[in-house]
Amino acid sequence: MLALRDEINAHNRHYYVEDDPQISDAAYDRLMVELQALEAAHPDWVTPDSPTQRVGAAPLSSFQPVHHAVRMLSLGNAFEPQDVRDFDERIVTILLQAGLLAKSTGDEATRAQGALFAENAPAGSVEYVAEYKFDGLAVNLRYEQGLLVQAATRGDGEEGEDITANVRTLRSVPLRLLGDSVPAVLEARGEVLMGQADFERLNDMQAARGEKRFVNPRNAAAGSLRQLDSRVTAGRPLRFYCYGWGQIQDGSGTEIQPCSTHASMLDWLAAFGFAVSPGRKLCHGAEDLLAFYEAVGRERPGLPFGIDGVVYKVNNLKAQQVLGFVARAPRFAIAHKFPAQEETTKLLGITVQVGRTGALTPVARLQPVFVGGVTVTNATLHNEDEIHRKDVRIGDTVIVRRAGDVIPEVVGPVLALRPADALPFDFLAACPVCPECGSAVERPEGEAVTRCTGGLFCPAQRKQTLWHAASRKALDIDGLGDKLIDQLVDNDRVRTLADLYSLSALELSTYDRMGQKSAANLVAAIDGSRHPPLSRLLYALGIRHVGETTARDIARHFGTLQAVLDASEEAFLQVPDVGPVVALSIYRFFAEPHNREVLAALSAAGVQPQDEVAVAGQKPLLGKTLVLTGTLPTLSRDEAAALILAAGGKVSGSVSRKTSWVVAGEDAGSKLGKAQELGVAVIDEAGLRALLASAPVSTASLGSSGDAGAG
Ligand code: IVH
Repeated sequence: MLALRDEINAHNRHYYVEDDPQISDAAYDRLMVELQALEAAHPDWVTPDSPTQRVGAAPLSSFQPVHHAVRMLSLGNAFEPQDVRDFDERIVTILLQAGLLAKSTGDEATRAQGALFAENAPAGSVEYVAEYKFDGLAVNLRYEQGLLVQAATRGDGEEGEDITANVRTLRSVPLRLLGDSVPAVLEARGEVLMGQADFERLNDMQAARGEKRFVNPRNAAAGSLRQLDSRVTAGRPLRFYCYGWGQIQDGSGTEIQPCSTHASMLDWLAAFGFAVSPGRKLCHGAEDLLAFYEAVGRERPGLPFGIDGVVYKVNNLKAQQVLGFVARAPRFAIAHKFPAQEETTKLLGITVQVGRTGALTPVARLQPVFVGGVTVTNATLHNEDEIHRKDVRIGDTVIVRRAGDVIPEVVGPVLALRPADALPFDFLAACPVCPECGSAVERPEGEAVTRCTGGLFCPAQRKQTLWHAASRKALDIDGLGDKLIDQLVDNDRVRTLADLYSLSALELSTYDRMGQKSAANLVAAIDGSRHPPLSRLLYALGIRHVGETTARDIARHFGTLQAVLDASEEAFLQVPDVGPVVALSIYRFFAEPHNREVLAALSAAGVQPQDEVAVAGQKPLLGKTLVLTGTLPTLSRDEAAALILAAGGKVSGSVSRKTSWVVAGEDAGSKLGKAQELGVAVIDEAGLRALLASAPVSTASLGSSGDAGAG
């Protein structure tokens, strides 16, 4: 029985992880039938890691949120060779400064002290691991005592969704880790993908069953992973490739770092039964990286799965720690993207759309064209100047670009194909007033964008403001779709966000396409949005330049709505990552009497945001000890210390192995040297601010930890 289970698991691995099947499909099926029969006769023999347990479970009603033990970062992008050279140069500079890179072959002192790089690495050049950038979905797999206990999506990096039931059905995901030396906690990170051939087969099947086809493998993978019914996922050909890790702990709950390099970590992970990123290569210096990029670019059309670029990572983990991270991306890694995908098609006409902030955007109406994996019929032309700069005329054959997930855009005309009667576009003639509300339009001097001056009088702006406020990352009001918003605004029933809270189920059920049940559900959803975290309310207000991240930064900085309302323009400038343009925009928003009225009406309607500190429920630096050295660019010693204390951290005067981070400024003294000697992470003021704005970050990704030998 045990032997049979292990035998099938081994075949799974040969097939899905090593791409090297050892028996025929029919023989495999016979083994499975045998195991199923045995388990049916002896239900108590069924274990959670049995291959029979990959068929999916009863459907869920929703996905539960998962707080990541270690934040899931994103990557900065490079597009041009120069971006890669700049990236490498930044790293060389920092590592030389830190004494972690030998200047020349003769620099034995640094080599001996740092001993960070491979013996054969050329002096002065950094060793990187270059990998594919998979075009799928990032997931975190958590194993406790070797058993898969949780799988989660990346979400916003701090909080994702629990998709364990779905991920259990992937045969390339071990349900139990192989080997004897499994750590108590191990989180493997990587990408879930669908191969090109599997995708095409799935689509043929979908079509045969009269079901909708997926536009591309990435969407098919996403749709398959986000199934509430994991039995559907079980029927989808998904694969997991591991490219990193999250939390790793030993039996005493201590964070451990079992290897000293990224490459050896991947080998270490592979030994547990993961399919690790194939096609990776050790490179030294920027030119080596660029050669890898070129080679992969040639290989790309023949690869069995989608990649949208390559990723370069500093191989040495101690060097990674010293480099730290900026905002949400590590400084030690970068994604080098392949050029956007382009196609040509006919420009049939140009219409003008009104955005949430009143921006009038010319939109190209196109003959449908398949580009970047989807059919495109509209593409942005950005603004008036862009149309002229590109000299795009109605009737032209144009190049359309759709890069990754971004909005499709018109790159320019194919002049050789221009018909004699192609018509230049006259913005003012086409759009003398706002096409939605008839208000005057204006284009402030020095700005590229023409705007409707109607503000929230303009129904288009009002509709989009409401739609934005109800969206998932804002108040998350399920069931408030754009068709209903159109009706509510057109009937003048809802003028501001606050009006939503006076809608009754009875009234809503009188609107088109609203049954009693959906009306009642919507009222419940609206009701449930009365106590959002402050950050979500701030984001929902649709303040210009305030995205999700800035909203969170502001909420964390001020804590309460009242404190935000009371803040001066200077006070907004104190928020990490907020510059003058953003500060002014926020300040003006709250100074506007109309906006104050809406906030008062919201409060009267019972909308009370939760204070942010209470929401986070955590102090990002709790249990951490930081040491300050040198002069920071904007913070005085006392200010920095006060911020650290407020975040739950301790400030110490001397560096030891227990130090979590050394914050170094200009003219940093011996403490910096001591930090490097002990392998303690060194960050600058920007790094400190990022920490203060972040959730707890475990030492596995950032902090100090010894070099427990190469794996
Ligand atoms: S490393 C600390 N490696 O790209 C860096 N990411 O833009 C974390 N991705 O969310 C990511 N292939 O979904 C890394 N070989 C690779 C990758 C990869 C694809 C995705 C991943 C991540 C996104 C970042």
